[in-house]
Amino acid sequence: MAGNSFGNIFKISSFGESHGKALGGVIDGCPAGVNIDLDFINSELNRRRPGQSEIVTQRKEDDSVEFLSGIFEGKSTGTPIGFIIFNQDQKSKDYSHIKDSYRPSHADFVYDKKYGFRDYRGGGRSSARETVVRVVAGAIAKLLLKEVKINAFVSSVGKIKYEYENSNVDFQNIEKSIVRCPDPDKSKEMEDLIKKTRKNGDTVGGVISCIISGVPVGLGEPVFNKLHAELGKAMLSINAVKGFEFGSGFKGSEMNGSEHNDSFNEDGSTKTNYSGGVQGGISNGMDIYFNIAFKPVSTIMRDQDSIDSKGKKVKVQGKGRHDPCVVPRAVPIVEAMAALVIADYLLLSKLSKI
Ligand SMILES: Cc1cc2nc3c(=O)[nH]c(=O)nc-3n(C[C@H](O)[C@H](O)[C@H](O)COP(=O)(O)O)c2cc1C
Repeated sequence: MAGNSFGNIFKISSFGESHGKALGGVIDGCPAGVNIDLDFINSELNRRRPGQSEIVTQRKEDDSVEFLSGIFEGKSTGTPIGFIIFNQDQKSKDYSHIKDSYRPSHADFVYDKKYGFRDYRGGGRSSARETVVRVVAGAIAKLLLKEVKINAFVSSVGKIKYEYENSNVDFQNIEKSIVRCPDPDKSKEMEDLIKKTRKNGDTVGGVISCIISGVPVGLGEPVFNKLHAELGKAMLSINAVKGFEFGSGFKGSEMNGSEHNDSFNEDGSTKTNYSGGVQGGISNGMDIYFNIAFKPVSTIMRDQDSIDSKGKKVKVQGKGRHDPCVVPRAVPIVEAMAALVIADYLLLSKLSKI
């Protein structure tokens, strides 16, 4: 199976399945001398961990990471950083009912058809358990990017929306909310909706917004490797993502150029930032911002009509431990993927002129 590596210079390869022995990765291209702060890496893992609150899957995993190489006396050595996270709380019998049948809108059907058979336990490689690897690598990318601040937060769950101006988001509030929405009132409404949805045996989607500040001018490799194109690829590679909206996004299409143009201040910054910090695929030093839409995930605790591997009609039952809404746990995953892109493009930018 190809497609398990991401990045150009700061390159991460990930391995492992939801109910296999372990997941892990290798980071190739991390420069020497990055302080590998294990407490920080563990705190990032805790933000993604299953079982962290009553509104997420109750699978119990410590998600403690063991580093195998590439770190000496607390610093990266410039050699490949290998790491592993052992699975502890697999309940594979919860998945025997989908051994030969397909959950509608999950990856069961396509994996079976593409590869001829599949590890159906917990969704195998298609499970978002894989994203634990991205969070470890993203935490190391964040440690490399000392000056860059990446903040993602939940801006909607279902139809409940947190309306905000980029400059007014209180990032300190994000981790105070189990939903990871910085507005306490909206957070409570979202939490109630997620609980109600779970009680009904259903799932609900949501949107995560991300604001990145401190990115220097000049990151991005036109024409095919534009910075926002790479961010789009990174975000769309996250499980259950259905939309990526950059800068002024779809709303920008309703404006006139006279309104949408970001006019310059004398220092090169701009008075407005409809561009989202990227012009011509290259960062301009302003904040980078984008939204990511997550679908309501497919495993619902209800019987659904489906087919088995022979095409016979079957009822698929919802079983096992699942997320009723993935956005609270996906916030650190979005930040990790953003950090991987910015770190990689920072290193790439050093090759563009002598
Ligand atoms: C943090 C996170 C947790 C997820 N948890 C579940 C889950 O509990 N049950 C489920 O059916 N899908 C879950 N998903 C989504 C599936 O992994 C995803 O829908 C599946 O692999 C099919 O891929 P696609 O939706 O991108 O097409 C989760 C996604 C993320 C990001």
